[in-house]
Amino acid sequence: MHQQLLDLIDKAQIDIAQCSSPNDILNAKALYLGKKSYLNTLFSQLRELSAEERPAFGQKINDARTKIEELLNFKEKALKTQNWDKQNAGVKTDFSMPGIMPERGGLHPLTIIMHEIEDTFLSMGFEIAEGFDIEDEFHNFDALNTPKDHPSRNLADTFYLDNGKLLRTQTSPVQIRVMENFKPPIRIISPGRCYRNDKPDPSHSPVFSQVEALVVDKGVSLADLRDTLQNFAILMFGPNVKSRIRPHFFPFTEPSAEIDISCVNCGGTGCRVCKNSGWLEMGGAGMVDPNVFNIVGIDPEIYSGFAFGLGIERITMLKYNIPDMRILFENDLRMLRQFR
Ligand code: PHE
Repeated sequence: MHQQLLDLIDKAQIDIAQCSSPNDILNAKALYLGKKSYLNTLFSQLRELSAEERPAFGQKINDARTKIEELLNFKEKALKTQNWDKQNAGVKTDFSMPGIMPERGGLHPLTIIMHEIEDTFLSMGFEIAEGFDIEDEFHNFDALNTPKDHPSRNLADTFYLDNGKLLRTQTSPVQIRVMENFKPPIRIISPGRCYRNDKPDPSHSPVFSQVEALVVDKGVSLADLRDTLQNFAILMFGPNVKSRIRPHFFPFTEPSAEIDISCVNCGGTGCRVCKNSGWLEMGGAGMVDPNVFNIVGIDPEIYSGFAFGLGIERITMLKYNIPDMRILFENDLRMLRQFR
């Protein structure tokens, strides 16, 4: 019985493929689905079956019916388009008609700047390393020489997950993952999202992006860090931009610094954007702490290195004159359409 149904579908398939007019379709419909069709006879036989056998058998007949209906519909549509083509054969196309513009998408401004930053560092000989948004305490804190009682580990600052992991608060754990897996010389950047338990305001968001840089080799010095930052600033913001580093503290770098560039809005004379200081804060930096080298098994007597982390929202806001970080996450189409 099952085989008979399969054979019927095969036969219908061949017949329907050969239909070449609406009339052929009507005939095929009558033959396979009409009152006197084989399928209909099977339906009438259902009554003779026991109550247990009936549902499965009925289901099979129904499936065959649906399949044949689909074949017929498909062929009917195909014949209609063929007809349209025939009727319109010889009609000249009017090339002066205005076309229909397809809707065009665009990249988010953060993505555009992220790509620009990546291209800039690639041109300076860096490679790109990918990290994980979900990290463990070891990579986000312990291996970065962060004391157990450091305030950044606090629930009020870090999003912890139920499984004991956390959403990384910085891209610095990528430094650890790279040094665990690769031997120096190392020269990488790692862009990506970070998460902190901050209330959104004009310069904060619980989700934000950083780009981390790490260089490890023999004889790497603070002068190399300065030089790399200055080159990057010029390539990103033009030849007149200046950069400077100011002493600061991070657990995983020694010495540590904060990075500033001269205000790209006023050129350093002082304005609203730089709060009259002439300088804009871009991120943190420093020389890799020997404790960190020891944790990942790199000998600090042989190698030295520098690292820095820049805020990508900050750079994007400066480049596009966006006054409030929240604008980058609201996804208002009136803003996004300007970047198509
Ligand atoms: N991870 C630090 C932060 O988020 C920035 C930093 C990166 C500092 C690399 C030093 C070296 O503030």
